[in-house]
Amino acid sequence: MSQPKGYVDPEFLRIVGNQINHIKQRSYSLMQIQLNHKVLDLGCGPGTDTIHLAPLVGINGQVIGADYDEAMIAEAEQRAEQAGVNAWVKHKRVDAMSLPFETDFFDSCRSERMFQHLTNPAQALSEMTRVTKPGGWVIVLDTDWGSLSTDSDETDIERRLVRFLAEAYLHNGYSGRKLYRLFKQQNLADISFEVFPIATPNYALARHGTQAEIIEKEALKSNVITTEELSRWQLGLEQAASEGVYFSSVNLMLFAGRKE
Ligand SMILES: C[S@@+](CC[C@H](N)C(=O)[O-])C[C@H]1O[C@@H](n2cnc3c(N)ncnc32)[C@H](O)[C@@H]1O
Repeated sequence: MSQPKGYVDPEFLRIVGNQINHIKQRSYSLMQIQLNHKVLDLGCGPGTDTIHLAPLVGINGQVIGADYDEAMIAEAEQRAEQAGVNAWVKHKRVDAMSLPFETDFFDSCRSERMFQHLTNPAQALSEMTRVTKPGGWVIVLDTDWGSLSTDSDETDIERRLVRFLAEAYLHNGYSGRKLYRLFKQQNLADISFEVFPIATPNYALARHGTQAEIIEKEALKSNVITTEELSRWQLGLEQAASEGVYFSSVNLMLFAGRKE
């Protein structure tokens, strides 16, 4: 079966999750969780965050992980069972566009790196806001792929690849920078934002984290770059890595707003 646009697998999410654990923790603290709270993680993937949220709400609370990918839900359910939290951490197959939860149901909601995959992010934020109780926090963490930058003399190829990733490979690749507008449109109060740069001199890690292999292959297929340009680009980066001077970075943006 073919995967949806921008699909990533659970192993990829585990590796990236470890790199950005400090940002995940910050997103949990913005939710202002108390014991017995009911919380939602929308676009939960394989359950990394739902399992982290379990001790914060406690056994009498409720954590719901929601994702439209059946395999992610199955993996998340298995992980919750292994972690011994499955009595109060549940995962459901759900489309972010239409949440099967009552209005004002959750004490707080979060979503991490899901908005970049959406064709209608405003609808997803509207749904998150609807299901949050008045006074509860809505938290979204997402990447601005337009901020991906790599030190290279091939700036034209570099920009073309970034634009391909942000504009063609993903439905909503500039997601991070658009969140302020979306939060304002939902009339969320006390909006705060933080920007987290993820920078690395590790070429292998950067290639993995940006799915460079796939993006380059797709960009080639779409005639965004030629075979000759691709080998020049890769050779340049490999040389930089071998000389110990490779460097790249990208920004993640974390927004919080309170439902009034
Ligand atoms: C990059 S992963 C992030 C997973 C998880 N939040 C994490 O941080 O590890 C994006 C997730 O969003 C899910 N997703 C994308 N579009 C969705 C939609 N319309 N409704 C629900 N989930 C969606 C994907 O299936 C995937 O699991």
